[in-house]
Amino acid sequence: MNVQILCEARNYEDTVGEKIKKEERPDFHLSPRTGWMNDPNGFSFFDGRYHLFYQYYPYEPKWGPMHWGHAVSSDLLHWEYLPAALAPGEVYDEDGCFSGSAIALPDGRQLLMYTGVAKEMQTQCLAVGNGLDYVKYEKNPVIDQKKLPEGCSKTDFRDPKIWRKSNGEYCCVVGNCTSDGDGHILLYASKDGFQWEFKRVLASNQNRFGKMWECPDFFCLNGKWVLLVSPQDMLPKDFEYHNGNGTLCLIGDYDENTDVFTEQADQTVDYGIDFYAPQTILTPDGRRVMIGWMQNWDTCNLRSPEELWMGQMSLPRELSIRNGRLYQQPIRELEKMRKNPVTHKNVVFSGCIHLDGISGRKIDMELTLRPGNVQEMYHKFTLWFAQNEQYHTSLSFRPKESILKIDRKFSGSRRAIIHQRRSRVRSTNGELKMRMILDRFSAEIFVNDGEQVMTATMYTEQEAEEITFFADGMVSMDILKYEL
Ligand code: FRU
Repeated sequence: MNVQILCEARNYEDTVGEKIKKEERPDFHLSPRTGWMNDPNGFSFFDGRYHLFYQYYPYEPKWGPMHWGHAVSSDLLHWEYLPAALAPGEVYDEDGCFSGSAIALPDGRQLLMYTGVAKEMQTQCLAVGNGLDYVKYEKNPVIDQKKLPEGCSKTDFRDPKIWRKSNGEYCCVVGNCTSDGDGHILLYASKDGFQWEFKRVLASNQNRFGKMWECPDFFCLNGKWVLLVSPQDMLPKDFEYHNGNGTLCLIGDYDENTDVFTEQADQTVDYGIDFYAPQTILTPDGRRVMIGWMQNWDTCNLRSPEELWMGQMSLPRELSIRNGRLYQQPIRELEKMRKNPVTHKNVVFSGCIHLDGISGRKIDMELTLRPGNVQEMYHKFTLWFAQNEQYHTSLSFRPKESILKIDRKFSGSRRAIIHQRRSRVRSTNGELKMRMILDRFSAEIFVNDGEQVMTATMYTEQEAEEITFFADGMVSMDILKYEL
């Protein structure tokens, strides 16, 4: 195995990683040790700790030949960096180690399954390790072109997500597309995790949701089966799907004996701007937790190229299915980080107000809105945050249309990329419940107890930390805010 490229990356991150001060990074969202980060990879629980790997190019804050960065945590919020786990360099992965997943083997070792890229060909490869160092499997690739059914792309074939069936069989889902670029998900199976056979096409896009489907994940949740994929080249559909790279959740039933997945419902995973390629884990206490790349290919030139890091992971989110929909809640461990509560109840106002103790860039804030005057519905509510004289990011709600909008146009960005997104939310009589988590460079808004989430990053200077409330009409509001 060619270890030189990995050693170079490890040496580089050791020296340069030190130069990034703690305050210059998000606090409890994982960011790359140095340089560039995209998709979460190998999200797993191994040897008593959570492991999160990530698509990584240590040398510059932009995408390059993909390595796997590595971090561990005991609560999914406080992360410790470990040395980079994978680097490109073999004949089958000389152009990059693309996304993949991890699982614990019965003999106590950890198995990584990833996509090797070489001369545009994509194949599925393995590496085995002890939670720190990994050795690429001598028989790589384990799934190559020969194991692709007819009419499947050899160049868009990536992101294996591995799991074990209740009968012990290993399975993996892999993103692929047909010769005309239409995404589908291939299912492979293996007795030992090393020798793989093609089973069937688990789900087909049929030109409904974008083109190629990346980064599949497939799991059982509250009696249903959920297929998460990240489609490229989406076309918009009212307020549910937006242009470009999106995230899609298909909910249905799956027969473990026949491997038939029957779709019943579809929805967006995150209704904000910056979220892509999520991956989930089953925690030892039985929770299904999802982390996504808190950026998007359509918005990733948001930071200036001089910065030492680019890319963040989202908050870990606990998933559930309620009323046929995917719900997401911030991981409950976050509640242990809450301090200095400030509450304001029944604040009835019109125009602009500030409230005592309500400001900050590392906060967890719950807001409940309702009309302040039962005779007359208010027209608009706006929350400005990460605000100073020059900058602000905002969240505004129009009750008559039930539209919630996030807008980071005034967050200091110098790029003409998407800065706003609107979502239709469920609201009756002007009532709305939101929980907003800020961690220096991001805002995640959980609407109606996790029925919808809107995520956006903002690289506004940290001094911009004021919060202002505005109502056109009369609004009555409850606030509960914690520092984190
Ligand atoms: C998704 C993705 C994956 C690929 C990786 C490359 O964001 O395009 O499909 O494996 O990023 O970095």
